[in-house]
Amino acid sequence: MKRYGLMVLLLLVVLTVASCGNRTATTETDSGSAGEMSETTDSEGTTEESGDTSAETGEVEVFSWWTGGGEAAGLEAMIELFAEEYPDITFNNAAVAGGAGTNARAVLATRLQAGDPPDSWQGHAGQELIGTYVAANQIQPLNDMYEANGWMEVMPETLIPLISQDGNIYSVPVNIHRANVMWTNPTLLAEANVDVPTSWDEFFTACEAIEAMDKVCLAMGEQWTAMHLLETVLLGSLGVERYNGLWTGETDWASAEVTTALESFAQVLDHVNSDASALSWQDAAQLVVNGDAAFNIMGDWVNGYFASSPDSGGLGLTPNDAYGWAASPGTAGTFQFLSDSFVLPVDAPHPDGATAWLNVAGSKAGQEAFNPVKGSICARTDCDAALFDAYLQSAMDDWSSNEVVGSLTHGVVANDSWKSEIDTALGLFLTDRNVESFQSALAAACASIGACQ
Ligand code: GAL
Repeated sequence: MKRYGLMVLLLLVVLTVASCGNRTATTETDSGSAGEMSETTDSEGTTEESGDTSAETGEVEVFSWWTGGGEAAGLEAMIELFAEEYPDITFNNAAVAGGAGTNARAVLATRLQAGDPPDSWQGHAGQELIGTYVAANQIQPLNDMYEANGWMEVMPETLIPLISQDGNIYSVPVNIHRANVMWTNPTLLAEANVDVPTSWDEFFTACEAIEAMDKVCLAMGEQWTAMHLLETVLLGSLGVERYNGLWTGETDWASAEVTTALESFAQVLDHVNSDASALSWQDAAQLVVNGDAAFNIMGDWVNGYFASSPDSGGLGLTPNDAYGWAASPGTAGTFQFLSDSFVLPVDAPHPDGATAWLNVAGSKAGQEAFNPVKGSICARTDCDAALFDAYLQSAMDDWSSNEVVGSLTHGVVANDSWKSEIDTALGLFLTDRNVESFQSALAAACASIGACQ
């Protein structure tokens, strides 16, 4: 196994061992750069961010892809808190529209190449961060900031290795999202007289009843949502160990098990809406709550979209009433996760503004403002559970009890180069549905990245 595989194996071992997602990290780390926080020590001896920040001036440009229903509202809640804490720092919201950052990340790459970084940007914990931005020396370690804020005491031990290299910590995680969620329309399922499927075989049986009612079985959107579906089918079909092995070279992409998983994926695609490529993730999710489709497999930002208020671009729905949820087929007991985090670029034009933003993003108040609206749970382990709705409380329980694995589409298990090769192969497959050539292309992608030889 080559270096890439070894690095990912190390991360996956940490993920699996630390399957209790909300244990805190207390490991000592080397001291890095950055971080000028005013701090206090409370009666229990933990440092916590505070102090008079109102004298700080200047500006900060924060880059993300949170412009849509639910996502923009979450960001806005954190920006409001930022404005209260740093009233004299002008906040420039540089969000670029497009789910999963498909457009935003292309814009970011162009800006970075031109030497024009924003002051901070959204980057996923895992290989997207380490194998892309750290590998290219584009971001700075934040160890001092972690120490000043006591973040090692409150960030989960699962996450720290995914944002670290050589003892340096490179980002501030703001949340934990779950990828392997199947959203359901309970009324439609009752009318079709089907239970929520727990395996792909049950799913195919359910589809027969739903399609007999002239409804779509599984709502899907543009191509990145197909990759999201693919990773959940791989996990459900291969199981945790072999799924993890895909990213370390331990599972052979050319094996019969992967053929079976890809055949299931092809079969699942036979049950999606014909206009998928024209729909955003919000459009696809909406088909479920409108009663046009029974299921949608998508991350729990869908909960943010469904539950947040119409004033802020959400649908204002109540979980467990207008919609239900379950682990995607074959993945009960597994939490396929991703984490949004923010970074400090090497050449941030306004490093003080960036530090102020990161202080808010890592704070309890910041995460409690952001996550209940965004549809995610806090990365921090000390948020008040009462602030979160029924879905998010169930996600908190699962995060702390399930086996944790990483997402492909959202940056945990593969770096950008590998993901991009998988995406190219997927694009062809969505057109030709040729399992054999898809599998060969996936095996070749793993080999070309150096993870499988
Ligand atoms: C993910 C991101 C989430 C959400 C989603 C849909 O990549 O981590 O926070 O924004 O895309 O846009």
